[in-house]
Amino acid sequence: MENQGIDIQVDRLRRTEYDDYSCWLQYTSISNREWVEHHQSLLSQIIVLNGSMVVKSAKQELFEAIKSMAGITPTLSNELTSQYGIVLATYKDHPSLTDHLSSEEFQNLNEEGYIITSFHSGSQRQLLIVGKTDIGVLYATFHLLRLIKMEENLDDLYIVESPKNQIRMINEWDNMDGSIERGYAGDSIYYENNRFTGDVDRLKDYARLLSSVGINGVSINNVNVHEIETNLITSRFLPDVARVAEIFRAYGIKTFLSANYASSIQLGGLDTADPLDKNVQECWIEKVKEIYSYIPDFGGFVVKADSEHRPGPFTYNRNHADGANMLARALKPFGGIVFWRCFVYNCLQDWRDRSTDRAKAAYDHFKPLDGEFLDNVVLQIKNGPMDFQVREPVSPLFGSMPNTNQVLEFQVSQEYTGQQKHLCYLVPQWKGVLDFDTYAVGEGATVKRIVNGELYNYQNSGITAVSNIGNDRNWTGHSLAQANFYGYGRLIWNPDLTAEEITEEWIRLTFGNDSEVVASVSSMLLKSWEIYENYTAPLGVGWMVNTDHHYGPNVDGYEYSVWGTYHFADCHGIGVNRTLKDGTGYTGQYFKENKDQYESVETCPDELLLFFHYVPYTHRLKSGVTVIQHIYNTHFEGVEQADKLVEDWKQLEGKIDYTRFGGILNRLQEQAKHSREWRDQINTYFYRKSGINDDLNRKIY
Ligand code: GCU
Repeated sequence: MENQGIDIQVDRLRRTEYDDYSCWLQYTSISNREWVEHHQSLLSQIIVLNGSMVVKSAKQELFEAIKSMAGITPTLSNELTSQYGIVLATYKDHPSLTDHLSSEEFQNLNEEGYIITSFHSGSQRQLLIVGKTDIGVLYATFHLLRLIKMEENLDDLYIVESPKNQIRMINEWDNMDGSIERGYAGDSIYYENNRFTGDVDRLKDYARLLSSVGINGVSINNVNVHEIETNLITSRFLPDVARVAEIFRAYGIKTFLSANYASSIQLGGLDTADPLDKNVQECWIEKVKEIYSYIPDFGGFVVKADSEHRPGPFTYNRNHADGANMLARALKPFGGIVFWRCFVYNCLQDWRDRSTDRAKAAYDHFKPLDGEFLDNVVLQIKNGPMDFQVREPVSPLFGSMPNTNQVLEFQVSQEYTGQQKHLCYLVPQWKGVLDFDTYAVGEGATVKRIVNGELYNYQNSGITAVSNIGNDRNWTGHSLAQANFYGYGRLIWNPDLTAEEITEEWIRLTFGNDSEVVASVSSMLLKSWEIYENYTAPLGVGWMVNTDHHYGPNVDGYEYSVWGTYHFADCHGIGVNRTLKDGTGYTGQYFKENKDQYESVETCPDELLLFFHYVPYTHRLKSGVTVIQHIYNTHFEGVEQADKLVEDWKQLEGKIDYTRFGGILNRLQEQAKHSREWRDQINTYFYRKSGINDDLNRKIY
C-alpha cells in the first residue's frame, strides 16, 4: 500500500491562475469552500484496485487535480477496507464490487464504458469509478473531474456511460519539417527539421487532452506523405514513433501512420506499386511485421491514394479495393486497420465542362466497389462531397455502401471557416451532419447510426477528424477554438448530446462557473457559424476564398485554372445546376426522399439552394426575399454580428484572466475588420454582376 493513513493538507498546493495551456483541464482551486468541506472525506483518499498503466494515468490525474482544486492531498491506498474515498477499479478487480453494481448493466457496457456510483452505508462513503476495462476507468476519472470542476454534488451519483462510436480518432496533418498542412496554431508538436522534437511533456499533455474527451486513435503525420515521411515506417524513425506510441498508450490511444501508397518503390527498391504484384505484397507484409516489432499495438495506416497527385492503384489499372486490400492483408494478422480516404477526384478537371462534377466523384469511384473491401478496411469519407465548406450537403456515400465499413471525416481545423482567426464553432454544423437522415433503409437511417455501425453492423466504424492543434502555447491559436477540439471529442463520444450541453460544459471547465460568462460565451459560440456564413459564401455555394491558402475573400477564386469558378454566376443568376433533369445529375446519388427534395427548386432548402440549382438573382427564397437581396442582407448583417461579438466579449472584462481576455479580443477585432472586406467584395461583385440595387439603399462599395 502506498502513502497510507490520512494526510489532508487543506489549502496548500492550490492553483489559482487559469492557464490557456491547460485548455479545459483547468485545475484551479474551487472557491466554494462549502462544496470542498462537504466532499472532504470523499476527496481525501484514492483507492486503486488495478495496476495497469492506463489506470495509473487515471490515478495520477485524479491525485493532481484534487490537490490543486480542493487543496487536499489524497491518501493513496490499494485496499478496499477503508470507509471513505474514491475507488478506481475495473469490474473484475474485486469480488465485493459486484455487490454494489448490477452485473446486467455491466454486460451492456461496451469495452470502453464505465459506471460511476456513490456508495454510502452507515459511515461508509465511497465513490466507485468502475470501468468495464482499464480505459473505462480513465474516461470515468475525467468525467468525475468535470463534475468536480463544475462543483456538482457528488453524493448521489449514478452514471452509466459507453461511447457510441467505436473509432474516435484524430488525424494530424503534420509534416516532418515541422509545418502543419492547414495548421493555424503554430508548428508541429511532433516534428521539427525533419526529425522528432522529443518534447515528451507536450505530447503527454496532448494525450491527456485527447483522452479527457474520449479520443482513442491518432494518426501522427499528414495524409500527404512526402519523401521524408515515407521513412516513418523504417528503422530510421520507428524507434521515435514507438516512443510517441508509448506516451499515447498510457492514455488508451492507438498510434497510426499515414502511409505513402508507393512505399514499395521508395523503400522496397521495386519498380512498381501494383497491388496485385507478389513482390509488392511481400514487401508490405515484411514492412508491417517490422512496424509491429517496434509497436505491438500499432493501429494501422491512413491512406490518401489517387488524389491530388498522390500515387495509387490507378497507375496499374487497379481499383481502390485492390489497393486497400493489399495493405489490409498485411495488417490483418496484427489486428491493424486501413483507413482508405474517399477524397478522390480529378483535381485537373476543367469546370467549364459541365459534364463532370467534383461533387459526384467520391460516390462514382467507391459505390460500385461496395462489398469488395476486406473487413479491416474502413472508407474514410469527408462530411460533404466537396471539401469542408461552411455549408455543404451531406456526402451521399453515407448509407450507400451496406457492405463496406465507413468512418466520417470532419475537419476541426477551420481551413475554410476562418482558420482559427475567426470564431466559427463547428459543433452545430457537425450535429446537423450526424442527425441527417439518409433514408438508406427508410426513415431514421441517420448518419450517426450508420457510422456507429448500428445500421449495417459494420465491423469497424466511427468518426475521425483533422486536428486543429499546434505548438502555440494555447494549442489552437484562437483560445475559443479550443471549444472545437473539446466539442468534437464530446460529440463523437455521444452524438445525442446537444450543442448547448457541450458548449456549457466547455465554458465552465475552461473559464469557470460564472453565469454571465457562461451565458455570454455560449451565445457567442452557438451563433458563430451562422455569423461566419452570413458574411462569406451564401446559400451553400461554397468557396469564394483565395486559392491555395483558402483565407480571405476572392469571389472568383478557383483552384486549378484561371477559367473556372465554383459558383457559375453570370449577369442573370448564380449557382450550380446539379439536378438529374438538366444538370450534373449529382442529386441522383441520394436516396429517393433526399433526391426529390434537392431536385426541385421548390423543396430544396434555402441554405443549400445554390449548391443544387442555378437560379436568377430575382428568385424568391422561402424566407420571402430574393437571392440578391439575401446576399446583401446577410453580408450587412454578418458584419454587424461580428461587431457584436467584440462588444459581447468586452463586457466580460475583469471576469476572464488578462491573457485570454486580450488574446481573444484581438482575434475578434481582426474578425470584425476582415468581415468588412468579405462584405464589400461580395456585395460589390454581385451588385456589378446583377445590376440590381439593394432595396435598403445601403452603401455598396
Ligand atoms: C483539401 C486541403 C488539402 C488536403 C486535402 C485532403 O484539399 O486543402 O490541404 O490535403 O483537402 O483532405 O487530402
